[in-house]
Amino acid sequence: MTVRVAPSILSADFAALGQAVAAVERGGADLIHVDVMDGHFVPNITIGVPVVQSLKRIATVPLDVHLMITDPDRYIEAFAEAGAAMMSVHVEVAPHLHRTVHAIKALGVKAGVVLNPATPVVAIREIAADVDFVLVMSVNPGFGGQAFIPRSDVKVAEVRTTLDRAGNQLAPVEIDGGIDTTTVGRVVAAGARVLVAGSAIFHSPDPERATRELKAAAAAALPASATTR
Ligand code: DX5
Ligand code: ZN
Repeated sequence: MTVRVAPSILSADFAALGQAVAAVERGGADLIHVDVMDGHFVPNITIGVPVVQSLKRIATVPLDVHLMITDPDRYIEAFAEAGAAMMSVHVEVAPHLHRTVHAIKALGVKAGVVLNPATPVVAIREIAADVDFVLVMSVNPGFGGQAFIPRSDVKVAEVRTTLDRAGNQLAPVEIDGGIDTTTVGRVVAAGARVLVAGSAIFHSPDPERATRELKAAAAAALPASATTR
């Protein structure tokens, strides 16, 4: 399994999203990470369906839509129609997670589940065989630019083990929060294969270059055996 970089446009200039996407695509972005926040599950309000629709028109890589909203079931169809290729829901807000995951898959979208920093890995054990990916939050969701929470790399490894035990070796572990060239090595070594980065890319003077450098740092941390998985 190769490692993929997913720049989070949360830290981009919302008045120039097209240019932001184009720049990171030139830098080798594999996905565009879109943070949807509702002001309830998290304190912040960000992007909705129309913005995803517009991004879909201009992006050449798939859109990875991270739903930080209290009632994801009400919106998954709309985000799928808007062009999400991957969609993730927080386990903390989804009492019928099995139904939610399969509803996303039925729409032809890759389904992911997300763990907040204080949510234990065991919360995904029963859904581990069904998901297309698991997203580990390495900050408390709501804002860009926060510091990586130590031990999140250990959690990545635990999620990897849970997926493997469920026979789901093909589902990657994604990580989101405080990822930059200083933290990327340890999370890749722990098994993360989709790396979300917002401020490290868009608050740098050259997002294209920052994407390229993060990807290179991630690739350098890949264990030799990882290319077979
Ligand atoms: C936080 C979002 C992240 C955010 C990451 O709630 O889910 O995707 O953009 O930002 P950085 O990379 O700055 O921590
Ligand atoms: Zn996110």
